[in-house]
Formats: sequence, structure tokens, C-alpha cells
Amino acid sequence: MIDSAILKKSIKEKFGHSDCSIFSAPGRINLIGEHTDYNGGFVLPASIDKCISLAIVPNGTSTVNLYSIDYDESVSFDVDGEKPKQQWASYVYGVIQEMKKRGASPGGFDAVFGGDIPLGAGISSSAALESVFGTALNTIFKLGFDKRELAKIGQMTEHNYVGVRCGIMDQFASLFGEAGKVIRLDCRSLEYELFPFEPEGIRLVLIDTMVKHSLASSEYNVRRAQCEAGVAVIAKYKEGVELLRDVALEDLDAHKGEMDPEVYRRCHFVISENQRLLDGCEDLSRSDYALFGQKMFRTHEGLSKEYGVSCEELDFIVEIARSVEGVLGARMMGGGFGGCVLAMVKNENHDEYVAKVREAYQKRFGKDPRVIDVVISDGARQW
Ligand code: GLA
Repeated sequence: MIDSAILKKSIKEKFGHSDCSIFSAPGRINLIGEHTDYNGGFVLPASIDKCISLAIVPNGTSTVNLYSIDYDESVSFDVDGEKPKQQWASYVYGVIQEMKKRGASPGGFDAVFGGDIPLGAGISSSAALESVFGTALNTIFKLGFDKRELAKIGQMTEHNYVGVRCGIMDQFASLFGEAGKVIRLDCRSLEYELFPFEPEGIRLVLIDTMVKHSLASSEYNVRRAQCEAGVAVIAKYKEGVELLRDVALEDLDAHKGEMDPEVYRRCHFVISENQRLLDGCEDLSRSDYALFGQKMFRTHEGLSKEYGVSCEELDFIVEIARSVEGVLGARMMGGGFGGCVLAMVKNENHDEYVAKVREAYQKRFGKDPRVIDVVISDGARQW
């Protein structure tokens, strides 16, 4: 996590402020339940110890002045003006616009921000950015949004200002996460339950392929549309079917012949994945991490073969995980087409797995993967 001294120094240098408020919001992992959120299903994410943090001071005007420490770039825009052209600034702009749509009036401010969430690695740096600005503006301008609304503001920022029709998992996890706990979130009702996740002698590690696929956002929207196409077929026959969450595998199979085979495969994955998550929570409540890990492997297989969002590099890293003793489970995580594999591994086998992956990956793809050990930590907060 970026040191508060760096933020304070930066806001003094850039904008001359000696006093400021400091906030941070984390990235997330998701243990199981991928591509289920926008289908009204369940997810099992947790916030991690990698954050975006900011220092902020209201400036009494309608101008927003931002400085990104990581990009070493400044951007200014008016809260009522045009969207800035820098992608990173459009997230902040989007959060402000979504707040205004809901009747709030955030004013102008000066802010500097930075963090240690690798970009494009599938651990939701963008949700962290939305959540940290959402939380900061809500607090300093006393806007009165609750955390569920802040999560929706972040999600709608993606839809309306970035062009990704994402679900709500990432923003929810960044805002609601708690140290040592995973969140079982019902993405339809937004009701959630926290499950302790502190398995003794087991660690979570992310292996970043360093692949940033340019198709990630366009193909994401295609997957979502394919799920909607499957729902439309079933809804002709069954009342009350609005989302894949409402569809049982038997219903899907009964109408298999009426859908494009690809649409069938996508829907088959989502419905199975939702059930796998519910079964996986039973494993966790019995502390059966070995059985839970097996489900992670099955999730990967489904994401790769049925949902079509994996890539060669991700498949390769998961394959190695299967061959190392003590790796209980591994799977690609997040939207896909690159980013990270999440592995659950026994402490004593961690170094062996990491060494094996590094060597084999370098040999096969001629580059180094990035290894990120993660600890489940608190969600968005003011320091
Ligand atoms: C991205 C989206 C989430 C979710 C995952 C896949 O992270 O932002 O809403 O759909 O992909 O599970």
C-alpha cells in the first residue's frame, strides 16, 4: 500500500495543501463464481491488501484537479463539463456524473492518488478507483449514499463512461470487504453473508500472465449478450424467468435445440458455476479446503472450454498447478482473456509451485509471470 507520507508530500507539491483527507479502496479476488454476477447469481469475492489510495481537499470551485502518481499525469475538468480523454480520469468523471444523476452535488476538489494494484491483471484496479473516489466524495461532501449505492455508482460508471456492462461484484467487494472474510453475495438482492476464510497452513497466490487482451471488454459484453439470448429462449416457455439465475439445467437442456450451440455452452457454464459456488460454501463451512479446491479446477475448465474466456497462458499456469503437490485449487480469475490465475496452495508447497511456474512459463512464453501473494484485508476506508 502506498505510504500516506507520499500522498501528503504529493498533494503539497502539486496543489499546496498541508491538510488533506486520505482514503483507500482495495482490489479483489474471487474464490469461485465467475461471470455469475450479471446473471443475478452468487459470487464469493474478498478484498485484498493491494489498494488505490488518495489524498483529497475540496477547492470551493466546480473544477476537479487530479494528479496520478503512477502515470505522473495531471488532468483537470469541470464537474458539469465534458468527459476527459484520459481513460483513468474518465472513471473519476463517471463517478461524479453518476452521483449527480442520483441528485447529489459533489463540488470541485484537488486530489492525488496512487497504489499498488497491478493494472489489467483482473484484480479490479478500476473498481478500486471508483470505490476510493466514491467513498471520498461521499464523505467530504456529505452526500449520504450508503455503500450499496456507492457500489452501483461504480458499476454504472463502467457501463456509461467506460463501455463495459459489468456486474456488481468488483465494486461490492472493494467497498464491503473485511479482513479474513469472503463475501457470499447474492447479486440479485444484494444481500450478503461474510464467511471466515483463514485456512490454516494455506495461502492464496496470484500468478499474473502479464497478458492484457485487447478483446477483454468487447468479448465481455458479447458473453453477457449470449447469456441474455439464452434467457430469452427459456422465458418463452417459463414464466418469471428474467435472468440465468432463474433457469435450471433441465430447462436449459429441454430447449437446447432452439439455441445456438455457443449460447447453450455459455449458459450451461453459468448455471453450473452458480451451483458450484453454493456447494463450495458448504465445503468451506466444513473447512474442507481440498474439496473446495477441486471445484476451483472445475471452474477453470468451464471458463476455458464452455465460456471461452481463458487463454493459452492461463491454461498453462493452471495445468502446472495440477501437477504440484499441495496446490489445492487453481483457476483463472475475473473477466478473462489474460490477467491472473488464483491458486490456493499449502504453505510448504508455495515456493515449489512458484518456482516451477516461473521456469516453465519463461521457457514456453519467453517472459516472466508476476507473482502476487495476497492477504484478505479490509474494504474501502478513511485513514
Ligand atoms: C469482471 C466484471 C465483474 C464480473 C467478472 C467475472 O471482473 O467487472 O462484474 O462479471 O468480470 O466474474
